[in-house]
Amino acid sequence: MPVPGPGYSVTVRVEAPPSASAAGDLAGAVGRAGAVITAFDVVESHTDRIVVDITANTYSDDHVRDITEALETLPGVAVRKVSDRTFLIHLGGKIEVSPKVALRNRDDLSRAYTPGVARICQAIAENPEDARRLTIKRNTVAVVTDGSAVLGLGNLGPAAALPVMEGKAALFKKFAGVDAWPVCLDTQDSDEIIRAVELIAPVYGGINLEDIAAPRCFEIEKRLREKLDIPVFHDDQHGTAIVVVGALRNALRVVGKQLPDCKVVVCGAGAAGSAIIRMLLRKKPGDVLAVDVHGIVHPDRADLDPVRDPNLAWVAEHTNSERASGSLLDALVGADVFIGVSAPNLFGADAVATMASDAVVFALANPDPEIDPLEAQRHAAVVATGRSDYPNQINNVLAFPGVFRGLLDAQAHAITDDLLLAAADAVADVVDGERLNASFIVPSVFDSAVAPAVADAVARAAAAR
Ligand SMILES: NC(=O)c1ccc[n+]([C@@H]2O[C@H](COP(=O)([O-])OP(=O)(O)OC[C@H]3O[C@@H](n4cnc5c(N)ncnc54)[C@H](O)[C@@H]3O)[C@@H](O)[C@H]2O)c1
Repeated sequence: MPVPGPGYSVTVRVEAPPSASAAGDLAGAVGRAGAVITAFDVVESHTDRIVVDITANTYSDDHVRDITEALETLPGVAVRKVSDRTFLIHLGGKIEVSPKVALRNRDDLSRAYTPGVARICQAIAENPEDARRLTIKRNTVAVVTDGSAVLGLGNLGPAAALPVMEGKAALFKKFAGVDAWPVCLDTQDSDEIIRAVELIAPVYGGINLEDIAAPRCFEIEKRLREKLDIPVFHDDQHGTAIVVVGALRNALRVVGKQLPDCKVVVCGAGAAGSAIIRMLLRKKPGDVLAVDVHGIVHPDRADLDPVRDPNLAWVAEHTNSERASGSLLDALVGADVFIGVSAPNLFGADAVATMASDAVVFALANPDPEIDPLEAQRHAAVVATGRSDYPNQINNVLAFPGVFRGLLDAQAHAITDDLLLAAADAVADVVDGERLNASFIVPSVFDSAVAPAVADAVARAAAAR
């Protein structure tokens, strides 16, 4: 059953008779149609009628139609207009550039622009490192996509990816004061993407790759890291891995287990899954079983092609010490931890019952997890999802703003595994022992302590290189 949420919030403007019962009738009709009213404003009042804006959380276009029909069946009520609040906040985009310097008179202009700026250009030409001191490079990140894997929606292309990249840029600014700018490229050719990023790199202090489909994302990141002297970070991989590994550390504290004693099943060996596996392996788990759409990953699987997907071949080589084969359900038997970054509704409570006692289940497929969290809770001790309407939300926002804040502050040239692990520990450490429990293994995304803690850990790890 879909749940009404603020992502599908609408304002319905209606005309109604000015009777004493009007408000109750309108609210009752909307409520019976299954929406959640969040505001009720009388915007006009006349002797013969009132005009009311009813703002409500809904869950689909059809649901909105049901609500307007329910209102129109009331005597004397007419719906004037329906406004989708999510579309309204996107009108004209979500971010803008604003100057940091005053431009009030000729004197200001002469320093911010010509002729004064010429001396700054010459200084940078003589010493290119000065670009980090004297230009936006000091605090600016490019959010680069080809639009090939937009959210869970698939290959929508660069223009349709822009609202996501704008949102990302807004989050960078809000949570860590980083100036990020969307760069949506009209190509899905890896060589062209790499060349384009290389050409724009002088402006930026870091590159955040976003929503680029696996397995191309692995090669693009690897080659860009080799070519550029600024950090390159694919958030769908490493942002996810940082938060998952940090959350897992806290989940295991709750159930009193140590990672080296645990069998961990990671379902999904794409962008997120393989980054999680690589980071987990650094922490020496008992064993990791990777599972993808073809079942448990092992080196003898016929579909493995090291040329087409070297990443999956690497995962096969470095996991599954007993060379098990079979399905996800086979993998779950006796497992201490399940981490899903794959597809919706893959198993039920019965499969969780086959896991070890005090099992940890992270079902992170969005928007619908691998298992309904309420089902998972019947047998698991700790459950996390990617959703904001359940406890323990695994959300990359806990990682990427602080990671880039730290990288920019340290004027870092590269990203290391140690730096990613330091960020994961920093996310975990924000939840102190007083607050840690099965429903609170990660901090809130609005916890203002998170980004500075991650930034500090990242800057220290970058400086220690
Ligand atoms: N909550 C979070 O923080 C978070 C972060 C990253 C990704 N995710 C979610 O994880 C999922 C995967 O993201 P991605 O970017 O890694 O995608 P991807 O396309 O790179 O990888 C998907 C992986 O899932 C596997 N898979 C697909 N269907 C499967 C099935 N029926 N059984 C087993 N494995 C299956 C594929 O083989 C592949 O290995 C998406 O739903 C995404 O929204 C959540």
